[in-house]
Amino acid sequence: MQRFATGTEAALALRPDHPLYCFRPEVLKEDARQFMALFPGETAYAVKTNGEPMVLKTLVEAGVRIFDVASPGEFAAVREASPDAEMLYMHPVKAQSDIRLALETYGIRVMSLDHEDEIAKVLRIVRAMDLDPASITIFVRLQTKGHAMYELSKKFGAAPGHAVELVQRLDKIGFRVGLCFHVGSQVEEAESYELALKSADWVRNRAGVELVGLDVGGGFPATYGSSPNRKPVHVPPLTELMGQLRDNITEWGFDDMPLVAEPGRVVVARAFSLIVRVLLRKGKRLYINDGIWASLSDSWTGKITLPARFIPDPARKTRKGDAENIVAFRVCGATCDSVDILSRPFWLPETVETGDWIEIGHIGAYSLSLRTRFNGFYPDDFVEVTTPFGDEGAPDGFASLETMAD
Ligand SMILES: Cc1ncc(COP(=O)(O)O)c(C=O)c1O
Repeated sequence: MQRFATGTEAALALRPDHPLYCFRPEVLKEDARQFMALFPGETAYAVKTNGEPMVLKTLVEAGVRIFDVASPGEFAAVREASPDAEMLYMHPVKAQSDIRLALETYGIRVMSLDHEDEIAKVLRIVRAMDLDPASITIFVRLQTKGHAMYELSKKFGAAPGHAVELVQRLDKIGFRVGLCFHVGSQVEEAESYELALKSADWVRNRAGVELVGLDVGGGFPATYGSSPNRKPVHVPPLTELMGQLRDNITEWGFDDMPLVAEPGRVVVARAFSLIVRVLLRKGKRLYINDGIWASLSDSWTGKITLPARFIPDPARKTRKGDAENIVAFRVCGATCDSVDILSRPFWLPETVETGDWIEIGHIGAYSLSLRTRFNGFYPDDFVEVTTPFGDEGAPDGFASLETMAD
């Protein structure tokens, strides 16, 4: 992989006409290590967030040895990155053949579920393989309430009363039982975790079963930008959020059992930026060579304002307008689909033109993993970059809308 000090340097040297991902392995290691240092338990990286081999390999180098996986594709990717990494199969609804594969081929012994039919599926395979249920840990996933960019409890999680029944049933069969939750991705309030812990405590007390662990899921927020014309969303910094989470864990009496977290976004977001090219400027619209069916769907559905840096093409000798004047451009994606228009504008100098580049920062989470081949577009070019996106400043143009808190 070619290596550059900054994204700007890569853009000017390569003049990429297709989207170019800038991978920052040292940033990834730093963020993974920071999380592991702050969380008072085991860290299981959520592979769905970005399961690229370069990411998994770098995380292993950083000391991550547990991975949250959801499918056979993720089991194989983790095994490829590390022959002895532990995997937690935390998707609550699983294909029977995938459960068998997990237990038989990959030696996975930790799973989650939120329904009795799922217990029946797991038990069928456990009996067929003649395994002792006591060798398997099952986390019952609880429904939670809280504020996050992505609410996940609409789809998964048992209500507290139901969770009590599931815990008791699993215990009676002989499985080791724990509780887990996911407060939603990109949480907006630290209290979301406290509400979930309170609910977990209620279930523990009613169930009267000795729990073997608590998995607090993901949700830890990454740093993004904010729009100058909107009220800034207050995202608690990780140190603050983790301090509060640690206090809440003690307060609710979960500090005496093994804890796990499944962070995704907060670990990998900062590790990638994406250089896109303006294929066409039409008034206040920019048509770029990426979009919601490639790297930008998370920002579209989550209405996330990504930080962006303008990289003007030096080959263009004349420009109209005032480079100091930052204006909002509507951004249209590369495909012919008319919904492929970003939900948030890019704020850039009014001099931006066809042929210029924009480096979009903090794009490592839910970008590469959500790419489709729609319309035949599939960004897959990479370079390595050594300077963190936020450290480069705004050399020729302007960082739009950045509130790079850290
Ligand atoms: C079960 C599970 N664990 C972990 C994650 C990672 O969440 P985040 O990226 O918000 O940290 C997700 C995301 O959807 C998930 O579904």
